Amino acid sequence: MAAADIFDLHGKVALVTGASSGLGARFAECLAENGAAVALVARRTDRLNSIVARIEKSGGKAMAAEADVRDRAAMRAAFDAAEKAFGTVTILVNNAGVVSSGRAVELAEEEWRRILSTNLDAVFFCAQEAARRMLAAGSGGAIVNIASVLGFGVDKGVIAYATAKAGVIQLTKALALELAFRGIRVNAIAPGWIVTELNRDYLQSERGSALKREIPIGRFGEERDLDGPLLLLVSDAGRFMTGATIVADGGQMVALRG
Ligand SMILES: NC(=O)c1ccc[n+]([C@@H]2O[C@H](COP(=O)([O-])OP(=O)(O)OC[C@H]3O[C@@H](n4cnc5c(N)ncnc54)[C@H](OP(=O)(O)O)[C@@H]3O)[C@@H](O)[C@H]2O)c1
Repeated sequence: MAAADIFDLHGKVALVTGASSGLGARFAECLAENGAAVALVARRTDRLNSIVARIEKSGGKAMAAEADVRDRAAMRAAFDAAEKAFGTVTILVNNAGVVSSGRAVELAEEEWRRILSTNLDAVFFCAQEAARRMLAAGSGGAIVNIASVLGFGVDKGVIAYATAKAGVIQLTKALALELAFRGIRVNAIAPGWIVTELNRDYLQSERGSALKREIPIGRFGEERDLDGPLLLLVSDAGRFMTGATIVADGGQMVALRG
């Protein structure tokens, strides 16, 4: 099959959480560029609206839905709105996430819960909502969870984030196992450092230069570096893949740290 056909997403309906900036905005654009109708979900609607306008200007189909991923009723409403506009959501990209830093002994309970509720609980409940709807429609589908290399290895000061991302990797496998025979594939992407709003200042600092030296490819990632892994997992190209986590980190995880 020609590459253009195997990655083609025409007729698919995608919902991307955390689509108001960074990786999520790029995921939404990439899915639309390849034919999917896309619902963009986040809390900042002004930003969502301008990304939707950009997608529509380039000939894509998109809509914005304001929701906090931790609010299950708001997420159900976002799925309803996407379904009303385009039909059953057959691709979910569980991307919304927040970072935090803080040593374990000093970490406040509210901070632990903020990180876990956004980066892990919401990933599960959004996947559950998407899967229930795919099953009811008999449509099958693809769910992609955005994990992190910190779901595999750890660093000091990232205990809540790393714990949540490790949970996302396990959750991906467990969901994949339960949903495989129903035609729903569940996979994850574990990015290394990708320059976005989340980390731009940090990566441009002196500490950032040191981090860059640990990446065998010799640079931080750009948002577009994840187009390939995403398209593989949501399209027919990845039709025999489920429960997998694709690491996209410029070789950072395989390099020995001195
Ligand atoms: N950049 C990296 O180096 C990197 C590496 C590994 C993994 N990741 C993961 O990639 C994902 C995207 O990160 P990014 O770098 O693109 O960060 P970003 O630019 O800060 O984007 C985060 C997105 O998540 C949304 N979000 C946060 N909390 C939310 C909530 N409660 N409800 C709804 N939306 C929420 C934000 O939108 P609103 O504020 O408008 O709601 C925003 O659109 C995250 O899961 C992150 O952990 C990033």
